[in-house]
Amino acid sequence: MKIYLKTYGCQMNERDSEALAGMLTARGHVIASCEEEADVMIFNTCSVRDQAERKAVGKVEFMKKYKQRNPALLIGIIGCMAERRGAELLADLPHVDFVLGTGKLHTLPDLVEKLASGRTRVAETGPNPDVLTGMGAHFRPEGAGGVLGQIAITRGCNRFCSYCIVPYVRGREISRAPEDILEEARTLTADGVREILLLGQNVAAYGLKGSTAAPAPEDSPFADLLAELAKISDLLRIRFTSPYPTYFNDRLIRTMAENPKICRNVHLPLQSGSDRILKLMNRQYTSDIYRSIVAKLRAVMPEITFSTDVIVGFPGETEEDFLMTRDLMNEVGFDQSFIFKYSPRPGARSAAEPDSVPQIVKEERDQILLADLAERTSLTMQELIGTRQEVLVEGVSRRMEDRWTGRTGGNRTVHFPPPGGCRPGELLTLRILKAGKVSLYGEAEQA
Ligand code: SAH
Ligand code: SF4
Ligand code: F3S
Repeated sequence: MKIYLKTYGCQMNERDSEALAGMLTARGHVIASCEEEADVMIFNTCSVRDQAERKAVGKVEFMKKYKQRNPALLIGIIGCMAERRGAELLADLPHVDFVLGTGKLHTLPDLVEKLASGRTRVAETGPNPDVLTGMGAHFRPEGAGGVLGQIAITRGCNRFCSYCIVPYVRGREISRAPEDILEEARTLTADGVREILLLGQNVAAYGLKGSTAAPAPEDSPFADLLAELAKISDLLRIRFTSPYPTYFNDRLIRTMAENPKICRNVHLPLQSGSDRILKLMNRQYTSDIYRSIVAKLRAVMPEITFSTDVIVGFPGETEEDFLMTRDLMNEVGFDQSFIFKYSPRPGARSAAEPDSVPQIVKEERDQILLADLAERTSLTMQELIGTRQEVLVEGVSRRMEDRWTGRTGGNRTVHFPPPGGCRPGELLTLRILKAGKVSLYGEAEQA
């Protein structure tokens, strides 16, 4: 069958879709490049904000016309929104054939084949521990190629930040066995991958058995895993996302400093700079603890850069709270930030509080932070002009045929004319000549 697979949401969802595409193609199905040619349409959805759900529902509604033309077409909704809304989605969207939640994703190939031969409508949600191994093994569609790979090392989240739906739609936090992850990393590197992104909603809590207490200074199974991965000689770079701040203990910080393969760029979600709001969010750190983590990382890796996530308009956020966020952001000097307007999620704890900050104020706060961010980004980009940067060569640029692209350890894209003999997957030192809005332009150093 020809299967069209569209993904919304975070990198965890992207990786799940990649694994599903791998499983489906291994069974002889083909991934369709457009909606028109599909026998099956699958939408892997996100629930993190109301907007994310609405976008997917809108898209699925729009697909009704294909079903009218071709009644044999199968349409399915999978992933986080499927988990949250279950059978209700079948009731709301009569042209949808199946709903499959996050705990049962690994059963997708069987389900699709079953439904194609005998039609019923099904909604399957709820936890299933088999998903850990079922989705774990590295199912990469054949010929996926590329030098970048992703490995999900944990699934779920136990942190229950008061605004967040993830613990409800992804279930309890579970970690994969280190041997499985290392084997997957070796398979990927044998296949040409040179940079691996480790994924988990609470990635640095890896191996801590779901505990949410701040770990002892030397207790970090995540650091042990990083150190083992760094020993794979063909693996040149390791990144991870997203680490909750309090897991950066001495052991993890030291391990990063000792292993230059671990990229000096950390996504460290801040959410708010106000201690009062952090407490209401059930984030288990204060602004000072956050500052001290940044300072400790910078002390041993002066070149390190940070990116972050921030929410504006959390219930009860005052102008003063907001300004504390703004000040802390400017103080840390994030290389990149993702700013979100608070969206109440039914079921998450903060949804019980009135969504008290008016939409217009959320917009204003969003715009202020975006303007700070734009100013800062253009400054940091300008500062890179004239510097030498090592990039991992990814291949021909998507925008310019005569240029290639690579990324710096700090996660900046650089376009450059490829020197003779240059190959994807190698490290190359470039001199930065020019800075655009989001990417840099450089030239290889003469040997
Ligand atoms: N596990 C990751 C976050 C996953 S969700 C972490 O802890 O870093 C990605 C981001 O979406 C969060 O960091 C948060 O900033 C934002 N977010 C989550 N729930 C939200 C909500 N209800 N409204 C607005 N933004 C939200
Ligand atoms: Fe959501 Fe918090 Fe878990 Fe991140 S750590 S997924 S924000 S509950
Ligand atoms: Fe969205 Fe699910 Fe990721 S809710 S952010 S796709 S874990």
